[in-house]
Amino acid sequence: MKKILHIISSPKGENSYSVKLGNAIIDKVKLANPGSIVSVKDLTVNPFPHLEEATLNAFYTPAENHTLENKKAIKNSDLAIAELKEADIIVIGAPLWNFGIPSVLKAWIDHIARANVTFKYSEAGPEGLIKGKTVYVAMASGAIYSSGPFQAFDFVSTYLKGLLGFLGMTDLTVFRVEGSAYPGQAEAALKTGIASIEL
Ligand SMILES: Cc1cc2nc3c(=O)[nH]c(=O)nc-3n(C[C@H](O)[C@H](O)[C@H](O)COP(=O)(O)O)c2cc1C
Repeated sequence: MKKILHIISSPKGENSYSVKLGNAIIDKVKLANPGSIVSVKDLTVNPFPHLEEATLNAFYTPAENHTLENKKAIKNSDLAIAELKEADIIVIGAPLWNFGIPSVLKAWIDHIARANVTFKYSEAGPEGLIKGKTVYVAMASGAIYSSGPFQAFDFVSTYLKGLLGFLGMTDLTVFRVEGSAYPGQAEAALKTGIASIEL
């Protein structure tokens, strides 16, 4: 039995390829781990706000000195980090938008990446503090980035691997529905993406 956290960042609902791919990953996880529980976090329904001065002040104030105002400013961040810690497996839906991730996903990342909470620095360098997780990224893109002329622009997978690895989540696999914008290729892209899922 695994606790699965499904992060959604496409506003396309059931028509979203990253959601379909994420659901297919979850189906396989459930098959391998009967009784698994899924918790869905749709960032397009409840988006995280941009970081503000009050949020940063609270981030950089040691927890033992937090005022009521500080606590209020980081309530959402604390909750998001607690959800991450609670999960065994995290499935992150990542539509490719303008060579990057949707801003709702970036906003969530800005709330979970916190010095001395989810990473810390020592003389030995940075250390991620969210350990022991399995992460599956369900990427969806109109063009193809895993090979060919656009491979040099495959920023999303490298960014997510780098960032989540920095926070300690180094066991990360990327699956892709890619090339859906090529005429007549959408269904085949979805099929190929789902068929590529190996846990
Ligand atoms: C605002 C926006 C920007 C996009 N930018 C890109 C892009 O830079 N490169 C690309 O290959 N596809 C791009 N696409 C196509 C999406 O990656 C594609 O539709 C994908 O399926 C989106 O994921 P979703 O189906 O989960 O929403 C863009 C789509 C939208 C809506």
